[in-house]
Amino acid sequence: MSLQGKRILVGLTGGIACYKIPYLVRYLWKDKAEIRVVMTEAATKFITPLTLESVSNNPVASDLFPADRFVGTRHIDMAQWPDLVVVAPATANFMGKVVSGISDDLLTTIICATPKPVMIAPAMNPQMWLNKVTQRNFATLKELGYIFVGPGEGGTACDHYGIGRMAEPEELYEAIKKFLAKGSRQSRKKKALTGKKILITAGPTREAIDPVRFISNRSSGKMGFALAEAAVASGAETTLISGPTDLTPPAGVRYITIETTGQLRTAVKKEFVKSDCLIMAAAPADYQPKKKQLSKIKKSDKELTLPLKPTVDILKDIASVRRKKQVVVGFALETDDAIANARRKLKEKKLDMIVVNTPGADTGFEHDTNSVTLIMPGKKPVELPLASKSQISFSILDRLSTLL
Ligand code: CTP
Repeated sequence: MSLQGKRILVGLTGGIACYKIPYLVRYLWKDKAEIRVVMTEAATKFITPLTLESVSNNPVASDLFPADRFVGTRHIDMAQWPDLVVVAPATANFMGKVVSGISDDLLTTIICATPKPVMIAPAMNPQMWLNKVTQRNFATLKELGYIFVGPGEGGTACDHYGIGRMAEPEELYEAIKKFLAKGSRQSRKKKALTGKKILITAGPTREAIDPVRFISNRSSGKMGFALAEAAVASGAETTLISGPTDLTPPAGVRYITIETTGQLRTAVKKEFVKSDCLIMAAAPADYQPKKKQLSKIKKSDKELTLPLKPTVDILKDIASVRRKKQVVVGFALETDDAIANARRKLKEKKLDMIVVNTPGADTGFEHDTNSVTLIMPGKKPVELPLASKSQISFSILDRLSTLL
């Protein structure tokens, strides 16, 4: 894939993996990307700016206040310039600064000022990576929408073994190409949802049986996360509320996590009044144990009966706070009589659209692909054949934009 016309700002912080970055820059340069390099002072101790100037064919910037000239808005210009910022290697110190909003050198100032996606490739000693503060910073940055590549497991320069190795230049190059390819596909779609506020729910909920056990379902959150990514790419101001998943929230979404159906309901109600549209892709647990057990239920040879009570149907409930103009989309997971059941839910839950899916070899829970049918009141069902959840998401949003 040619990267012609793509602008990539590569930031280096102080780590021995700096010596691998010229390879990455050269791969990107060969694909015709425009590259600017920013180095922290510590990075310049590991590799010289001259090397990176030679491979990027551009001057390397390091100083926030260069001695030879004063350009007051340079950090802002540099923050606006790229399509993607890649920080590799990224130290624990750099991650800590970004989390805290510290901008005390050119690179961290650019990171603070950039509205563009930022990809981070951490590189550090395994103990530094495992440090609770680093792990907390990593989790927070992911939640804030920073994209991580690596670190990998292996031997490190300090002769330790563990997680902390920077992703290899080839792996980083592939991740950058993949990210930019997705971006250009998405930018081809007209920004149909610009100015719209979209609320999306994803993943399962959990209802505690006792302090160690819960009722849940097989929802992976992939459909809701793909929808959120597509909504951001379509220009929408996107809020994603998710139950427990292993997924990284897409760049640019406001991310809220919940655990129980009750918490999901509270969050949806709060956010719904500020939204133009709700897409309820979450799979809330329909039942919760009637009694809260404060201690672990001990096993015995006898049968165990667990009385359950229904949870509140959030979609139905939302009708009570529903303003006229909001568009509400539900999902229906059906194993039998899919269309008839979905039509019933569409009516009962007063929806503008319902997306029907059935669990199968390539569809439904946990898969990266799906095939769905869209049902809208008074209209013929629209079948979307098997495609990636990302493609399905764009098709759903295309229909949605006509309703908004
Ligand atoms: N839903 C909800 N609150 C619940 C359960 C489901 O808002 N407590 C929403 C889901 O997010 C989905 C839609 O309702 O958008 C349909 O969910 P689904 O599980 O297919 O159907 P249910 O209404 O739960 O009915 P059933 O399980 O009997 O099929």
